[in-house]
Amino acid sequence: MVMTDAVLWERVEATRREMPRTDLVRLAHPHVELHAKMESANPGGSAKDRAAYWILREAVRRGEITRRTTVVESSSGNFALALSWLCARLGIRLIPVIDPNVNAATERTLRATWNRVEKVEGPVDAGGFLLARLDRVAELVKELDDAYWPDQYSNADGMRGHYELTGAELVAALPTLTHLFVGISTGATIAGLSQRVTHDLGDVTVIAVDVAGSVILGGPPSRRWIPGIGSSIRPPLIDRAVITDSVIVSEREEVAGCHDLLRDHGLLAGGSTGCVYAAINRYFDGWRGPPPVVAFLCADAGQAYRDTVYDPAWVSAHHLGSAASVKGA
Ligand SMILES: Cc1ncc(COP(=O)(O)O)c(C=O)c1O
Repeated sequence: MVMTDAVLWERVEATRREMPRTDLVRLAHPHVELHAKMESANPGGSAKDRAAYWILREAVRRGEITRRTTVVESSSGNFALALSWLCARLGIRLIPVIDPNVNAATERTLRATWNRVEKVEGPVDAGGFLLARLDRVAELVKELDDAYWPDQYSNADGMRGHYELTGAELVAALPTLTHLFVGISTGATIAGLSQRVTHDLGDVTVIAVDVAGSVILGGPPSRRWIPGIGSSIRPPLIDRAVITDSVIVSEREEVAGCHDLLRDHGLLAGGSTGCVYAAINRYFDGWRGPPPVVAFLCADAGQAYRDTVYDPAWVSAHHLGSAASVKGA
């Protein structure tokens, strides 16, 4: 019979007590009452801390992870950083499996923390490196004695983390919420948040935001350059989300959205947050009704995107410049 590692479980419980509750920041907007939940303030730097925490918590509780376990996971960056924070804190090993789209700063942090970081170079599948990363994870899990694969793409505990943590904080801080915009990749965030806000607040419009080239909402796949949002597979968790509407944003608009958010509010955010900000502005462009109460996540900070989204040379080399920004003014 598998037993919970009591020492590790105590560390898991202590981590929950000490995890920050992230702030909700009010942003001026011409048409809506706009609130950003600052997930970039999590210790691992993104909203992914919530999913990572709940996934590892449940695995420790079930006895699937002990202090001897090595966690092996595929991530384009933020989930690896979240696991990196948590595994270091809990005293368990991690092998992150990343790909060439990862931000240089993220890769440096991971390499500074862990002896072994695996970077796949290909093959590129329909728009991404996901399948190559997952193949490498499967090889590593086979090769190692005591390995645990969190499987963020279909593990419902990630969704539960957003229900119990991010979602609980959001409904407590903003009970008047009418519209929630969420960027999607594994679908864990939108599944957990949408279940929580509709359960606690009733009629909330939940808008999924995806990037063009991602297949999650049924569009054709194409090469994408900015990590964090989108996927080259349709993740099963997306079917657990309560989605009212969706907006697809091109990577050009994503870059413009990041720059708009910086110029309008001084917030240096990552690509997915720029995507969501562009979607909000497009959705409410010319809105004439009473201001809806809108929330979105500032899913990660922009520092790791300084050499990409915020570097004019990179933007122009990738033909991602000069999208007209939709500012809703
Ligand atoms: C910055 C950022 N935003 C949004 C998402 C999408 O979240 P989810 O995978 O829960 O759909 C991710 C996922 O990696 C992310 O890193």
